[in-house]
Amino acid sequence: MMKLPDSPKNPHLLQKIQYFTDPISYLESNQEQYGDIFNAPILDNSKRQLLVSHPEGLKQLFTKDGQKFYAETVEFLRFIVGDESIFCLEGNSHKRARKLLMPLFHQEGISVYGQTICNRTEQVFSRLTPGTNFSAYRVAQEISTAIMSSIILGIYEEKRVQQLTQLMIEFWNSVSSPLIASVLYFPSLRKDLGAWSPWGYFRHLMEQIDQFLYTEIRDRRVQYDPARTNILDSLMSAEDEEGQRLNDQQLRDELISIIIGHPGVVSTISWALYWIHQHPEVGEKLLKELDTLDECPEAMTIFNLPYLTAVCQETLRIYPPAILTVPRVVKEPVELMGYELEPGTKVCACIYLTHHREYLYPESKKFQPERFLEKQYTPYEFLPFGGSSRRCIGDTLALFDIKLVLATILDNYQLALVNNQSVKPHLQGFGTLVPSSGVKMVFKGKR
Ligand code: HEM
Repeated sequence: MMKLPDSPKNPHLLQKIQYFTDPISYLESNQEQYGDIFNAPILDNSKRQLLVSHPEGLKQLFTKDGQKFYAETVEFLRFIVGDESIFCLEGNSHKRARKLLMPLFHQEGISVYGQTICNRTEQVFSRLTPGTNFSAYRVAQEISTAIMSSIILGIYEEKRVQQLTQLMIEFWNSVSSPLIASVLYFPSLRKDLGAWSPWGYFRHLMEQIDQFLYTEIRDRRVQYDPARTNILDSLMSAEDEEGQRLNDQQLRDELISIIIGHPGVVSTISWALYWIHQHPEVGEKLLKELDTLDECPEAMTIFNLPYLTAVCQETLRIYPPAILTVPRVVKEPVELMGYELEPGTKVCACIYLTHHREYLYPESKKFQPERFLEKQYTPYEFLPFGGSSRRCIGDTLALFDIKLVLATILDNYQLALVNNQSVKPHLQGFGTLVPSSGVKMVFKGKR
């Protein structure tokens, strides 16, 4: 058995800054120097925080998850999602939450949302006039929030949709701002000095979001209609094995946990628009594939299109929105890749580094959807949604959403990139990898 490998020598604070300002260089240079598993003190102040990128290491981590490891939510996320959130639950209560939530996101259940997704996409695009420049990220945010309002909360009233859109865009923008991100990551900076101080502003914003969600929950309890199809109504009527339903606090915490999965969707849609327009041959192949469909295709037919699927997989591979999984903490001494890990050691799968292993993905920096048509990757080689008992519960809904939005845009509108400059990734507040410039595009008109 070997000792732990050496970790990067720079002071921890400097490493955190390096990681947040240029995560790709930080990860790649350390992997080059230290290999497939290294100590990267970037999450909090604990001394042992290992990042693993070797598929064999990920297999060992995920198969021992739950017995030898438990998941630990980053402290600031707990503040946002609340103690009753699936992100913060452990053991049996976590299993119970997954049992309640997962059926709501199964393929058969979500297929009813297809038309809503296409309508919401068209609604946002109908506001653009030919020749207008726009940010693909901003448009994807608007589309995604409008979709979320309808399918997660069951809100169709335009005024409420706009209210939620504004709150959520403010929320996402605030967690991307370096000031708010630093108060989230460094608890000692959290001083509420009024609405103009970063922490005071963020707390006030969270209160407004809570107020919005509690109003929806209360109204829905008063006017419950079992015929409505949305996640909130289904969640309200869901019962666990003992016949228990969720209380208001639990509903609010689960709703916010579901809502915060959406920056991943927004990031993937905007990256996909970037890659598709940077590689016109990819756009042409997608259009050819869409042309094979009937006039009014079933949502699931679009969802199952092979080339569209490969484009989404390649987009999620090259810049995975979640660069790391949720940290797993060692419960009792355990061996991982030949190293003996002591209790308290934190281990994250480094999704980005796994997705750029050259022997798995030759010329890994190049956008080549065909690689997913030619080869089947294991869950330890391609893992944009993490793995084991903590794997993302929204993966199918996310892909459904992304594919239908992209198909609607490509089939109906002509877009172009404003320039040919390459867009760099940037780490947003929650650790979501987003396009730094937002992807500047021009709307050329209807197809
Ligand atoms: C492209 C979009 C998305 C990506 C890349 C993504 C990625 C992830 C990842 C990497 C994890 C952690 C898995 C682990 O640690 O092993 C996770 C967890 C989670 N995601 Fe997503 N996600 C996305 C969209 C969504 C959506 C739309 C929802 C809501 C419907 C959602 C809900 C959740 C929840 C509730 C968890 C926690 C699961 C648990 O702790 O048991 N995600 N996601």
